[in-house]
Amino acid sequence: MPRHIRRIAICTGGGDAPGLNAVIRSVVISAARRGWECYGIREGYNGILFHERYPEGGVFRLTPEKVRGIGHLGGTILGTTNKGNPLQFPMKMADGTIKEVDRTAEILDFFAKQELDALVSVGGDGSLTIANALYQKGLRVIGVPKTIDNDLDKTFTTFGFDTAVDFASNCLDRLHSTAESHQRVMVVEVMGRYAGWIALHAGISGGAHAVLIPEIPYDLDKVVAKILRRDSLGRMYSLVVASEGAEPVGGHREIVAPAAVGHAERLGGIGERLARQLHELTDKDTRVVVLGHLLRGGSPTSFDRVAAMRFGTAAVRGLAEGQSGVMVALAFPNVNYVALEDVAGRMKGVPLDSDTLQTGRDMGICFGD
Ligand code: F6P
Repeated sequence: MPRHIRRIAICTGGGDAPGLNAVIRSVVISAARRGWECYGIREGYNGILFHERYPEGGVFRLTPEKVRGIGHLGGTILGTTNKGNPLQFPMKMADGTIKEVDRTAEILDFFAKQELDALVSVGGDGSLTIANALYQKGLRVIGVPKTIDNDLDKTFTTFGFDTAVDFASNCLDRLHSTAESHQRVMVVEVMGRYAGWIALHAGISGGAHAVLIPEIPYDLDKVVAKILRRDSLGRMYSLVVASEGAEPVGGHREIVAPAAVGHAERLGGIGERLARQLHELTDKDTRVVVLGHLLRGGSPTSFDRVAAMRFGTAAVRGLAEGQSGVMVALAFPNVNYVALEDVAGRMKGVPLDSDTLQTGRDMGICFGD
């Protein structure tokens, strides 16, 4: 029988997303209301494992006072990283080479020594896979689903997604007028990794004419035909939204850097490629806008703030009720708990039969197929 909870820790991992601070605030306040102490781990698990960076220890006490006024702020007061995966922590060997080492045992050891009873792990697929591994090794842990990409399985949505879509959609609103004034094709590259959620939702919301997503390999001729058809109707400009992971039929996705020890493949560059090709094929003036990390910044939307607080407080309630090895999920209209092992290592792309995709098609958006 696990002992009664008195002290918990929270960490944020992977790419930041608007709403992280709202989760931290809600965990700290709701934990304090139960009389629990809360500790923040800096920069994923680096606060525990990266001794050179945190010689004094990278874990600190979080009180309601410390989290006052942070709920509307972007980023995370704990810091984050998408490099320090404790299952494959990059370590310099005696011969100078870098090797990936499993250091999860050190985390369990740290929790035992500091008398920390449970962990709230806020993150995407990578962080929740780590959380599941820590749970399998005996840690009491509960996950909170974060990512602007919305690519986590078993939850209707993650916090951060709505803010990213809202921003991208606002950018599209602005691009309509300049594109129309100059009779240009504007290619807008958005993040999303291997899922097209941001491109799809922003494209529909912002009135894009073509949307290219990883789930549907595109035929450039179809996009060209769409642009020229619009021209023939006197609509002399077009907006093309491209998800960073989209790829042409029989082709490959664009990457900035391949996967290497300690970090995953970095996507990017499809916007430039498309703009160049569309200019060649349509002879139209073409420009590219890469929204990139702008999608991750700024204040969370009210939807994301509420989602973040629902997730954070549900994580604390779940721990109080004896839950462990689970992730808080949104299953409209309520939150529920799903097994971490059903989430870890799985990706949720846009289903080809989704009504949102069909909505785009019915509105005349070209998906390159
Ligand atoms: O997963 C979130 C995300 O923003 C992806 O959309 C993007 O591919 C990646 O992170 C970028 O990561 P980095 O911070 O390493 O540039």
